[in-house]
Amino acid sequence: MTAKITSAPTVIRTIAQMREAIRAYRKEAGAAASVGMVPTMGFLHEGHASLIGKSSQENGLTVLSIFVNPLQFGPNEDFERYPRDEAGDLAVAARAGADLVFLPSVAEMYPIPAATQVTVSGVTERLCGASRPGHFDGVGIVVTKLFNIVQPDRAYFGLKDAQQVAVVERMVADFNQPVAIVPCPIVREADGLAMSSRNVYLSADERREALVISGTLAKAPAWIESGMNASQLTAAVKEGITASPLADIDYVEVLTYPGLQPPASDAALSESESGGRIIVAAAVRFGRTRLIDNILISFPEAHS
Ligand code: PAF
Repeated sequence: MTAKITSAPTVIRTIAQMREAIRAYRKEAGAAASVGMVPTMGFLHEGHASLIGKSSQENGLTVLSIFVNPLQFGPNEDFERYPRDEAGDLAVAARAGADLVFLPSVAEMYPIPAATQVTVSGVTERLCGASRPGHFDGVGIVVTKLFNIVQPDRAYFGLKDAQQVAVVERMVADFNQPVAIVPCPIVREADGLAMSSRNVYLSADERREALVISGTLAKAPAWIESGMNASQLTAAVKEGITASPLADIDYVEVLTYPGLQPPASDAALSESESGGRIIVAAAVRFGRTRLIDNILISFPEAHS
C-alpha cells in the first residue's frame, strides 16, 4: 500500500509522452515500481472512482485512460452522443487518486485504420457480443493498444461489464500480456441501479422504472435456492423485468462464468453448477437507453 497526497493528475495526450512518463516513473521507483491502469471512456461516476481508488491503494502509480473508442460502437449506436465531460472527469480523477490521465485523440490512437483484428471467440457469441456485433473486437483492439502503451502491472475493470472482464481475461491469457486483470464489484446507486455513464440519458420515468432490473436480478439467488434450472430462472427474470411497461428486453441469459456457456444440463442450477459460478445477465432498453446489469452467483461444491 502506498500513501499519497491528493493532487491534480498530470494530463497526457500523446502516446510518446505517456511512454516517457511511465519510463521515468519506473526509473525513479526502481524495483518497487508498480503501475495500475483504469481504462475508461470517461463521464466518470463512483464506479470508476472505486476502480481508481483501488488501483491507487495497490500501486505506486495509477494511470486513468479516457478514450471514447469509436471501434467498439456499431453504426447505429451512440458514439457521437456518448456523454463527455473532461473537466468533471479530471475532478473525479484527482479526488479518487489517479496520478496520470491519458486523454488521447482518435487520430492519436488510430492514425491509420487498424488492419489487425482481435477476436476472442467462445466468450463473445452471446449477450452483448450477439446484440452488438463487432463490439468486443473493438474493445480487444483498444485494450491491447492501451496495455502496450502503458504496460501496467495491474488493470482494473468493473463487473457491470462482466462479459468484457471475461473477454479481456481470456485475451490477456491467450496473448501472454504481462498484466493482472483485477475485476471489481458493481457499484450501485442507493436504490440499486447499477452506475453507468449512460444513466444520464434516462428520463425521470425511465430512471424510476429501470430499478426493475436490479430489483429482479436480486431475486435470482432465492429462485435458485427454490430449485430453478437455467430456463426457469431465465423465464422468471424476464417476467420480473417485463412488469415495467417501459422495459424492452434485449436479452436475459443464464450462463456459466467466465466461460459464458449455457449450463450443461437441465437440472436445478444448484446441482448442475455445483463448485462453479453462473452469471444472470440482462440488457434492457428504456426508451433510447440500453442498460446492462448482472449478478454473479457461486455454488459450493456438493459433498456426498
Ligand atoms: O468499459 C469501458 O469503458 C470500455 O469498454 C473500455 C474498457 C475502456 C475500452 O474502451
